Formats: sequence, C-alpha cells, structure tokens
Amino acid sequence: MRIFDTHAHYANERFDGDREELIESRLPAAGVELICEVGCDLRDISATLALIEKYPHIIGAVGMHPHTAEHMTEAMAEELVRIAGNKKIAAIGEIGLDYYYDFSPREVQRLWFDRQLSIAEQVKLPVVLHIRDAMGDCMDILRAHRAGLIENGGVMHCYSGSAETAKECLDLGLMIGFGGSLTFKNNRRGVETAEIVPLDRFVFETDCPYLAPVPHRGERNDSSLISFVAEKFAEIRGLSPDEAAETAFENGKRLYRL
Ligand code: NI
Repeated sequence: MRIFDTHAHYANERFDGDREELIESRLPAAGVELICEVGCDLRDISATLALIEKYPHIIGAVGMHPHTAEHMTEAMAEELVRIAGNKKIAAIGEIGLDYYYDFSPREVQRLWFDRQLSIAEQVKLPVVLHIRDAMGDCMDILRAHRAGLIENGGVMHCYSGSAETAKECLDLGLMIGFGGSLTFKNNRRGVETAEIVPLDRFVFETDCPYLAPVPHRGERNDSSLISFVAEKFAEIRGLSPDEAAETAFENGKRLYRL
C-alpha cells in the first residue's frame, strides 16, 4: 500500500524521542511515501521548514491556525507571502475557523481567515482548511473566494460537516480529507460523506500526533496508521484498501501539484 499523509505535524514535541527513526525507517517500511507537514503558528515555523529542507518526501503547508489568529500581524502576513515562495511549500494552511474552542475572538478569526484566503490566491497555492463548529460562517467566507478556490483548490481537513455541505465544498473545487475520525464509532456524518464523495476528490490524512484511528484511538498517531482509514473508506465504497490508498495518493499529488 502506498500512503500519502496529506496532513501531519511531525514537528510536534510528541515525536521528539523518535522523529528521525520514524520518518527515515518505520514510515517508509509501512509504505508512507509522501507527507505534508503542516506548520500552523507563524510565530515559529522553523521546525516545519527544517523538516521539508531535510527530507525529499516531505512537503509543507504554512499558515496561521484559527486558535492563534489573535497573534497574527501585518508583518507576519508579509512573511507568509515570502515563505510561500519556497518551492517545497505546497499550500497555505491550516487556516479557518474554530468556534468549538474559541481560543481567538471570532471576528479576529474571520478577518485572518479571509485575508489568508486572499494570500493563497495571490501566491496561487491551494488551502488547507480547519473548520470546527463554524460551517455557516466558513461557507460565507469561502463563497466570497470562489474564483480563487476553483483555480487553486484546497482541502477540507478532517471534515466534520454534513454530506450536504460537503457537496457545496466540492462545488467550490475543494477536496475532502478523511482521517482517524472516519473509523470512530457513531461518526455517521463521516460515513455519509465518504459514501458520496467522488473518487477523484478525497485524500487521507492523520493530523498526527492527534486523532489516531480505531483500534489505536487515544494513542499517538502516525502516518502508517492511515492503513486503517483506507480500510474503512474501502469498506464504505466497495474497494480494496490498496485501491483506496492508491486513489487517495494520486488525489493528494493533484491537490498539492506534485
Ligand atoms: Ni492539523
């Protein structure tokens, strides 16, 4: 099975003990050929840049997460444009709205979400979207960026909305990201979305170290565990796990233009 983890956080301190060994040996042995490392706090993305510099099979996404949106500045927005010029930066993200935690004021989240979507248009990169309990406001802002989204694409990372809203995201040119939560019991919406997503419009992701799939739920996640997500998706769509992983792999390459 060939695995493309389209959303990972290997800079996270939970990988400090075995990061190199994992990335250099254990993940390749499990079929993990490509990884998108997401750096989501622009106050310090040095670890993200070091990873994409060091490993040919790791590309990067950078952006200011809604959790830390209140710390975003004009100078950081300019810096984001500059960093986006790095050939191994494949996307702007994760950006979006998170009304579940509300770590930053909602109007500040909306302001920088909108602004970073404009930056993605300017630098012609796809976007990685983090949306939680904010689908209504999110769709309003995304609709205003329709032309740029259709041109450059993007992904609804760890999508948790309804199948109905997923259709609208697909109409905006976005792909749907499926991770460990697809395997969680009672994730009816995830299954319904997996049932309707076109086979050229989905990708697999971990969000590691978070969101490990069943039967590893609660443990530290890593890209090799995408095999369980592939199994679940394959079961829903009547594919083999290898076919599901391979299709997601090719979709991921198209998403990030590799
Ligand atoms: Ni993430």
